[in-house]
Amino acid sequence: MDEVPQLGDALPLVPTTSNWLDVAMADLDSVHADHLHCERKAAQSALSLIRSYPEHTDLVEAMARLAHDETRHVVQVAALMQKRGQQASYDHGDEYAAQLRTHIRKQDPARLLDRLLVFAVIEGRSAERLGMLAAALTEPKAAALYASLADAEVRHRDIFLSLARSIAPTSWRARATELAAVEAEVLAQHPVMARIH
Ligand SMILES: [Fe+2]
Ligand SMILES: [Fe+2]
Repeated sequence: MDEVPQLGDALPLVPTTSNWLDVAMADLDSVHADHLHCERKAAQSALSLIRSYPEHTDLVEAMARLAHDETRHVVQVAALMQKRGQQASYDHGDEYAAQLRTHIRKQDPARLLDRLLVFAVIEGRSAERLGMLAAALTEPKAAALYASLADAEVRHRDIFLSLARSIAPTSWRARATELAAVEAEVLAQHPVMARIH
């Protein structure tokens, strides 16, 4: 996939309106510690799609490149933490992503479509909140890192949407709208925490 079109309009995520930014800014150590694992899991999820769908040539290439981006993000977040004198911690799980995954249908080809769209949702939400943090952070290097992560996650969202469109040209938009609405419900039930989601 050489050119990734801007497809974000197909995924109408509700804006973050809670006190999330205040909670996150009050405990940046927790945000970083969790985010290291978010980036790691994003890489693993991309690679897991290659394991499941090796016959999809476009998907294999796009996911290999995306996993590469995400592992670079792990390195960048780890470096930021090291600079802050902060130790990494174990992964405390991700109830938000787990809840979204319960909406992935079990049978292919619907399963592939849903996996791509759920990943697009997670990338889209991450991009929004990483951008909010970037705008709020006063330390210039941390702000620049979060801004660059936000830009990358927008691109990733569009890569997932583009793959979804190519495998389900007539149904991807309606399903993207459904999953965006599901995500709004999941967020509404989710406690506000010092992490990206
Ligand atoms: Fe990332
Ligand atoms: Fe990403």
